[in-house]
Amino acid sequence: MILVTGAAGKTGRAVIQSLVAKRVTVRALAHRPAQVRLVEEIGAREVVVGDMRLQATMDQAAQGVRAVYHICPNVSPDEVAIGQVAIMAARSAGVEHFVYHSVLRPQIEAMPHHWQKLRVEEQLFESGLSYTILQPAAYMQNVLAHWDQIMVQGVYPVPYAVETRLGMVDLEDVAEAAAVVLTEPGHAGAVYELAGAEVLSQVEVATILGQQLGHPVRAETVPLETWERRARESGLGDYQVETLVKMFRYYECYGFWGNPHVLSWLLGRSPTTFATFVERSRCSRN
Ligand SMILES: NC(=O)c1ccc[n+]([C@@H]2O[C@H](COP(=O)([O-])OP(=O)(O)OC[C@H]3O[C@@H](n4cnc5c(N)ncnc54)[C@H](OP(=O)(O)O)[C@@H]3O)[C@@H](O)[C@H]2O)c1
Repeated sequence: MILVTGAAGKTGRAVIQSLVAKRVTVRALAHRPAQVRLVEEIGAREVVVGDMRLQATMDQAAQGVRAVYHICPNVSPDEVAIGQVAIMAARSAGVEHFVYHSVLRPQIEAMPHHWQKLRVEEQLFESGLSYTILQPAAYMQNVLAHWDQIMVQGVYPVPYAVETRLGMVDLEDVAEAAAVVLTEPGHAGAVYELAGAEVLSQVEVATILGQQLGHPVRAETVPLETWERRARESGLGDYQVETLVKMFRYYECYGFWGNPHVLSWLLGRSPTTFATFVERSRCSRN
């Protein structure tokens, strides 16, 4: 049995599906009762509902599992404390293997959520647990948040310059790699960067979207003030807004990409291209 935290989120669901495809039994940690059915439908055998910030919840969730796949909620101000609770729970339960879903380049202090993940990695090094750390790049799936605007208006909006170059990774590849490190021996003590094979400007991203969808798509910069106003209106908190603004500024200054060799090695094939991802998304949404 493997415990997946953050189970009902985008990443958690992908990891559960990948593990279930390998016939691994999964216990899911869901946040709210309303998420139980969702994770059961994709194959979680057991579900614990609760707040991963609480030691009692995590202790209960980790009881009797062979491994933990820990996914912290996105841009959480509590990531370091949550990591500590998860590591403590895994230690108390005598878990054999702890896999932490980190991020590409956690060393970048200018992005506070990356820096928090680095601190969790450091706790793991000192935990005495057998661990593996996965460091994914930004997901291709983030583009899907704008799917309607792309389809209806032919506009791909980004809160940075359209020349910004990103090396996005397919979340399904990341989930497949997660299942590999959780089910195959030899990954203890490893820190793996999981990056896509292409480094694309946002103009190139829009061009590929247009080619695959069969209508013109252009990348358009949304001013940061506009993005920030909309984010606050949608209910995003101060920490999340400020952190994401710092991330967008960083992306615009330096770009954000990694090297695909480790992911290729783990998958035994090249990572999914953006064109293939768009084609797959188009088919699944039709
Ligand atoms: N998106 C990317 O491109 C990317 C790239 C690399 C790494 N990552 C990392 O991947 C991780 C997961 O991101 P994601 O986009 O999959 O997150 P997500 O979709 O926001 O999912 C987070 C899940 O955690 C649950 N949750 C929130 N607070 C909780 C709490 N206190 N206790 C228990 N569960 C709680 C959420 O439930 P509710 O719906 O109830 O809040 C949700 O089901 C993040 O750490 C992120 O930094 C993301």
